[in-house]
Formats: sequence, structure tokens, C-alpha cells
Amino acid sequence: MPAIREGARGAVISGWGTSLPEKVLTNDELAATMDTSDEWIRSRTGIAERRVGGTTIGLSIESGRQALEMAGLDPSRIDALVLATTTPDKQWGSAAVVQHELGMRCGAVDVNAACTGFMYGLVTAHGLIAMGADRVLVIGTDSLSRITDYTDRATAPLFGDGSGAVVLESVDGDGELLGWDLDADGSALGILQAEVGGYIEMEGKEVFRRAVRLMVDSAEKSMAHAGVTIDDIKLIIPHQANIRIIQAACDRLGIPIERASVVIEHTGNTSSATIPLALADALDRGRVEYGDLLLLVGFGGGMTAASCVLRWGGDAQ
Ligand code: ACO
Repeated sequence: MPAIREGARGAVISGWGTSLPEKVLTNDELAATMDTSDEWIRSRTGIAERRVGGTTIGLSIESGRQALEMAGLDPSRIDALVLATTTPDKQWGSAAVVQHELGMRCGAVDVNAACTGFMYGLVTAHGLIAMGADRVLVIGTDSLSRITDYTDRATAPLFGDGSGAVVLESVDGDGELLGWDLDADGSALGILQAEVGGYIEMEGKEVFRRAVRLMVDSAEKSMAHAGVTIDDIKLIIPHQANIRIIQAACDRLGIPIERASVVIEHTGNTSSATIPLALADALDRGRVEYGDLLLLVGFGGGMTAASCVLRWGGDAQ
């Protein structure tokens, strides 16, 4: 992927929001219906519970509404909505319904890149701003409970529902995006897939092995484009599929896991929502200061990988 062209119009994140369904599904509740245990799930994945029962449109409306409110923007001022999801409520139109329900008057598109969807959406939104849009709402939402087989102990513990959103606004100076990378390898689709109308199927060990390599490769490309090294990164915001994948990726990148934002314990893998949920958590906890460098990185079905380096606040030094 090319580096960002000199002089390209930049953007900064001016608001964010999150949404999770009310219903909590604990490991013990799962263990009551299948041959598993809280101890097995926690030790193999880092997950204690997940939220289930959401709809992609409903969760997106809520996270999008919060992000607009924080940015202090009337919905009519948004120029485009990019909704990343691999579980649309209907075959098409989730973004359009969210646009209508939030009172926006702009183009609206669903983007599906499995768990890297939010990253593809975020990079796309920066591209729209480089081409003249002033404000773009990016939402990552998945309701994976609808495509999870709750009789399969190999997959059921991993997934949940959730949503995270950010508002991107154009700026005069340099924007926040210093480097980015988008990657895909369709030869590996078979190890992690879902038939239309079917459930998630995966070869867990093989996904694990590739996931670490994909995240590290993509992160290194983004950092090279940004002209920074891992030592410059204040916080890594990784896709939350398994705490052991996050740990292994951090080890290989050379960043302590204490400098990662981790929310998987209470959310599970929410696909397109994990990165905006982890980003919002870090921001809400005050872990990010003006000028800090953030590395956002994920992998997903396809298989896909994506990452970017952001300097929080844009041209702050
Ligand atoms: N409870 C108890 N035992 C289990 C469970 C469970 N929930 N699941 C599997 N086991 C058993 C297996 O049957 C196996 O038993 P055996 O040794 O008698 O054959 C044993 O535990 C070990 O199984 P493994 O699959 O080798 O366990 P592993 O350590 O690899 O962990 C896991 C499995 C957690 C799935 C891991 O491979 C992983 O996280 N992979 C990546 C998954 C992922 O990131 N998916 C991305 C999805 S993104 C998307 O779909 C949108």
C-alpha cells in the first residue's frame, strides 16, 4: 500500500460512542449448555462474558448517536456514513437505515471485511475527506450471536455483539493519519468462514497462527509508512479475538501488553466493533493524550488484515 501523499487533506476524530446489548452471557451460562468450563474459556481466550441479542442497526444507531453528540454535530452536517459490518440485519441497507434513523442526509454504505471492517471503513473515510468530504461517521458493528452455533463449543465461547463509532472531521493542517495498510489473502478464506445463512466455521489453530503473523506484518507496514517504530507507539489498539493472539502479537512487535487496550474479557470477539470499542475504552479511561501515537491493527475472515498509525489530535508535536 502506498504512503499518504504529501499535502493530502487530513482529518481528526472529534467524537466517539459505543453500544452493547443488555443481555450478558457468562462462561458459566455457556457451560450449563455445553461441555466447557469458565476456566477453559478464560485461560484459552481471556473471555469471561459477552453481550448478545443486539441488532446491527439498533446498536449502530446508539453508538453513532453518541459519537455525533460528543462531536457536537447536528446529524444533517455529516457528509457520509460508512458502516462496517459482517452481520447486516438484511442483505443490504443497514447503513441507509441508520442514516435515516439518525436524521442524516448523506451517502451511506455497508462495508464488509469481517473483523477488519472498521479499519477498512476508517481508511475509506480518510479517503473521502481527502476528496472533499468535511465530516464522516464511521461505525463498526456486529451481532455475531446471530451467526454463532451455540451447540459448537469450539466457536460459541468466542463471539458477541457490539458497536463502536467515531466522527472524523477535516482539518486544515496535517490530520491524525500517519500511515495505513490494508491487506487480503483470499486463498485462506476456508479456514474462517460462514455460508450465507450459516454459522461461523473455523480452524481455530490455523487462524491463530496466521492471525499473529498478519497483524505483525500489517502493523510493521503502517509504522514504516508513518516513519515511526514501535518505541514511538503509546498505545496499541488490537482486534480482540483472543487475549493470547494479542499477547503474541505484542511480543513479536516488541511492545508490552500493558501498552495495549484490551476489552475482550467482557465483550468477546465483536468483529467490526472490537477496535472502536477498545479505542473508546482507552479514550474514556484517559489513556490517550494529545500528540500520542496509536497503532490500530486487526485481522479477519477473508483473510484480511489492516492497520494504521494515528497521531491523536492531528498536527500536535
Ligand atoms: N471447552 C472445553 N474444551 C474445548 C473447547 C471448549 N470451549 N473448545 C475446544 N476444546 C477442546 C478441543 O476439543 C481439544 O480437545 P482434544 O485435545 O481432546 O482434541 C482441546 O480443547 C484443545 O483444542 P484446541 O482447538 O487445540 O485449543 P486451542 O488452544 O487452539 O484454543 C481457540 C482454541 C480458542 C479457538 C484458539 O485456537 C483460537 O482462539 N483461535 C483463533 C480464533 C479466532 O481468532 N477466530 C477469529 C474469528 S473472527 C470472525 O469470525 C469474524
